[in-house]
Order: sequence, then structure tokens, then C-alpha cells
Amino acid sequence: LKTDALTRIENAPDAAALEALRIEFLGKQGSISGLMKTLGKMSPEERQVQGPLLNGLRTETTDAIAARKAVLEEAELEARLATESLDLTLPAPEAPRGSVHPVSQVMDELAEIFADIGFSVATGPEIEDDWHNFTALNMAETHPARAMHDTFYFPDVDSEGRRMLLRTHTSPVQIRSMVEQGAPIRIIAPGRVYRSDSDATHTPMFHQVEGLVIDRDIHLGHLKWTLETFLKAFFEREDIVLRLRPSYFPFTEPSVEVDVGYSMDGTRRLVGGSGDDPGHEWLEVLGSGMVNRRVIEFAGLDPDEWQGFAFGTGVDRLAQLKYGQEDLRAFFDGDQRWIDHFGFDP
Ligand code: PHE
Repeated sequence: LKTDALTRIENAPDAAALEALRIEFLGKQGSISGLMKTLGKMSPEERQVQGPLLNGLRTETTDAIAARKAVLEEAELEARLATESLDLTLPAPEAPRGSVHPVSQVMDELAEIFADIGFSVATGPEIEDDWHNFTALNMAETHPARAMHDTFYFPDVDSEGRRMLLRTHTSPVQIRSMVEQGAPIRIIAPGRVYRSDSDATHTPMFHQVEGLVIDRDIHLGHLKWTLETFLKAFFEREDIVLRLRPSYFPFTEPSVEVDVGYSMDGTRRLVGGSGDDPGHEWLEVLGSGMVNRRVIEFAGLDPDEWQGFAFGTGVDRLAQLKYGQEDLRAFFDGDQRWIDHFGFDP
């Protein structure tokens, strides 16, 4: 029995045949199992002789099956390796990839440009109170400039009786910075702002970046240098032409509006050049000015010691100018095809 079992195991052609042999010899009804059962009926003397023999037979058979199994598995693996192959030169299947929205891209660029000239980034809440958005910026309850902001007000006052609104500009961050950190200050504040207005050039939510410098002996020359440096870096060209126009904001005095020359070739893409060139037009990009001393007072600083300048600019408009896009609303449609086209690989 033993030689027969071992040869047949040795020659089992595959895993299924080997399993059949295991059942034939070692299964419940198997021949070796049958022999083991006879031990119980033997006399003690007989059992002492047969016991070790049968146990040895069972162990040898079990080992032989395990050994054959290992050989068969090895052979199977070899066979698979020989037939299957991986082509490492095949291009990987394309995974969907995101891109950075042009508005986010521009805000990142602005933060970088201003970081180089010593500005840090400040933030404030989008749900703002009336005092920070208007009053402290020298716009009293009755100030006509309030009407120009098309403000989204909340229907009820908050628990402290404050009138809440969606901030109409990033200028309240000026107040928060002065109140919270005191002077000196050199910050920009990018973020979302809201006005009840919607057409091809206005969206009810848009983005601004505020700038604020508060220090001793700050004057208009610092403002002009800062804006020129920023716009040249942003548009990546030295021949940017700026035009500073006297203007009015309640929170700056004097106030200056800044225009850049831009192309009229229909792309809204900025090409620079003199504003007197035919085919060019001035485009307003910035509101700015020296911080009104009343605002410095409202924020709790002494205007005789601290002066400064502030500016505010529309990020979406800057993105439009730099990357060319007719309809401002396309920036906020959330159309993935548009974002893929105008976005940037991170
Ligand atoms: N907050 C102004 C606006 O939204 C822009 C501005 C900011 C003007 C800072 C002057 C100084 O139009």
C-alpha cells in the first residue's frame, strides 16, 4: 500500500488529482484511515507493533501530499509567469484631474507679489456688521455712498442689536486689522464680496483684494510706488501704463482711481502701450487713497501719529484682463469644460 500510495502521489498530474488521492487515502472513508480504525480492535501486543507502523504510514503520506502540492503550485506559477506579460511602456489610463480656477490663481499670485514687498495676508468675515462695513469707514447711516453699494442686508438684527449684511467690499478688513493688531500694518485682504447686481460685467458675488499700510510718515508716493510695482509684476511687463485720477471714497482722502491701458482688439487681453494710442482705452482697475484720518480715529489709532494708504481691486476683473474672458459670469458658472480650458495645472 505504501509504495503504491507514494508513487501515485508523486505522479499526480494536477491539484485536483492530488486532492482525490488525499481523500482516497486519508479521507474519512480512506484506506489509511480504515487501517487506523483497526488498531482499536487489536490486542495490546499487536497494537504496539502496528501502531507506529500505521502512524508512520499516515505521516509519510501526508508529507508526500504536501510536497507534491508545493511542486504543483510552483509549476503553476511558472506557467503563468511564462504566458502572462505586462507592457510597462503602455501609457497609463488617463485619470480625471482638477485645475486651479483663474480667480484662485490670481489671488495666489497677488499674495505672492505682495509677500515680496512685505505684506502679509489678513482675512475678515463675509457676514459683516453695519459698523465695520460702513460706519467705521466714514459712511454714516445717512451717507449717500451707502445707496451705491446695493447691499444684501439680513432681515433681522443680531443678538447684540447689530444690523448684519454681506460685506459689499473688503474694506471692513482695514478696520478689523487696525482694531485687532494696531499699528504699524502692512496687509492685503483677498476675499469674496457681495452686491445685488448681475449682468455681463457684474456678478452678485465677486472677489476683491484690499491693501492697507499704516505707519509713520506714509505719503502718496508710497502708494504710487506700491501700485506700480504690483501691477507691473502682475501683468509681467514693464511697459504697463498707469493713470492716476482724482476720485472720491468716504474712507480715503485724497482718493485716487487707477487706470491701466488695455487692448481694444476684442479679447480684453491687456497689451499695454500708451493710453493715447488709437485702439487703446483706459480701464479702471483700482480704487485707492490715503486713509481718511476719521477712519484711523474710528479704529482707535491716533491720526497724528499714524498715516497710511489703502487700495481695493476686483480680482475677477484682473483675471479677465490678464487671461482674456469676455463674460464675467463664466467665472462662476462652474462649467468644468470652461475651468479645464482657463484653469491651470496645479
Ligand atoms: N472699497 C472700495 C470699493 O469697493 C475700493 C477702495 C478700497 C477704495 C480702498 C479706496 C481704498 O469700491
